[in-house]
Amino acid sequence: MKHISKCYSGIVKKEWNRLVQDPFHTIELNTTLRYLKKYFPKKGLILDAGGGPGRYTIELAKQGYDIILLDITPENLKFAEKQIRKAKVQKHVKDIICGSITDMPMFPDNMFDAVICLGGPLSHVEGEKNRTKAVSELIRVAKKGAPVFVSIMGKYGVLPIFPELPKEVRNTKHFRRFVETGDDYLWHGKYYSHYFEPEEFRNKFLRPNFKVLELVGLESSSSYSAKGTVNKLAKDKKAWKNWLDAHYKLCTNPNAVAESAHILMVGRKK
Ligand SMILES: C[S@@+](CC[C@H](N)C(=O)[O-])C[C@H]1O[C@@H](n2cnc3c(N)ncnc32)[C@H](O)[C@@H]1O
Repeated sequence: MKHISKCYSGIVKKEWNRLVQDPFHTIELNTTLRYLKKYFPKKGLILDAGGGPGRYTIELAKQGYDIILLDITPENLKFAEKQIRKAKVQKHVKDIICGSITDMPMFPDNMFDAVICLGGPLSHVEGEKNRTKAVSELIRVAKKGAPVFVSIMGKYGVLPIFPELPKEVRNTKHFRRFVETGDDYLWHGKYYSHYFEPEEFRNKFLRPNFKVLELVGLESSSSYSAKGTVNKLAKDKKAWKNWLDAHYKLCTNPNAVAESAHILMVGRKK
């Protein structure tokens, strides 16, 4: 299997634009920002783990937070550096580090006022044990009382797009493995991705030193299969507002969480 950073090194600009490319994707971005705002301290040092080309790093730096950006793909970090300069927020970005969320020895325990790991880095960590290790690391580096935010790709959110990919459904071994375990070894053709069940995701954080506060469906009913129609709806201002109001009202309901393409866990280190 090819290393995931190989994949991301080839789609840096696409990844930078991912969350703002159309109304559908802005739902993930704006729902995430809404929950960051709800739980973030007023100021402090934030770890953006798996922060890619830096969309959240720059947004938070603009809000006055100090940030350390960590990602496994060097090309993403080079691109982020340029965007950080362009946005004139260098003084808030304290470091940019190439590394993996599974092992962060460069950071001492209890270092950060908040930790974010958004858009699915944990979904790219292969194997149950390694994902558990990554979660331990994300919690370890957070201060006591600090919020931790992790979003991943959800199994039931992505399943409805499989009928659009008949070749994948016909590949019995691949499709069965996805259904039974959530493991996908053909992500972008040849990379690994894990799609979580909501309870499986929540259970990863059930530890004596951590409290899960909320699971949030970042797209809820707008998930992949509805992408086209959602983008059309966004052209009608009033309908769009009503649609988003409904999303924000329902996005923590377990059904909305389960059907989401991305699921956010919000928790706090005890
Ligand atoms: C979909 S992108 C999300 C980027 C950013 N957090 C966002 O939401 O816009 C996933 C990122 O995870 C990074 N990644 C994958 N595995 C990782 C790991 N083990 N440690 C750190 N970063 C990782 C990739 O390089 C990529 O930048």
